[in-house]
Amino acid sequence: MILCLCKGVSDRKVRELVKQGQSLREIVDTCHAGTGCGACAMDLREIVRHETDDEKSKIIALNTCS
Ligand code: FES
Repeated sequence: MILCLCKGVSDRKVRELVKQGQSLREIVDTCHAGTGCGACAMDLREIVRHETDDEKSKIIALNTCS
């Protein structure tokens, strides 16, 4: 699904960047999502927050299993 129509950035791309360890600021700098009209900014923030929480949960689970 295209998340940012202005810059043609998909939600999949944003999720990939979070998995690579990028912060919201780094994602914006990399793909420019949210730098046009701003209509996607709330959704962008929410996806990054959700995916970051998922990544943290995976790290905690890995650390407690070893
Ligand atoms: S839809 Fe993302 S900046 Fe316009």
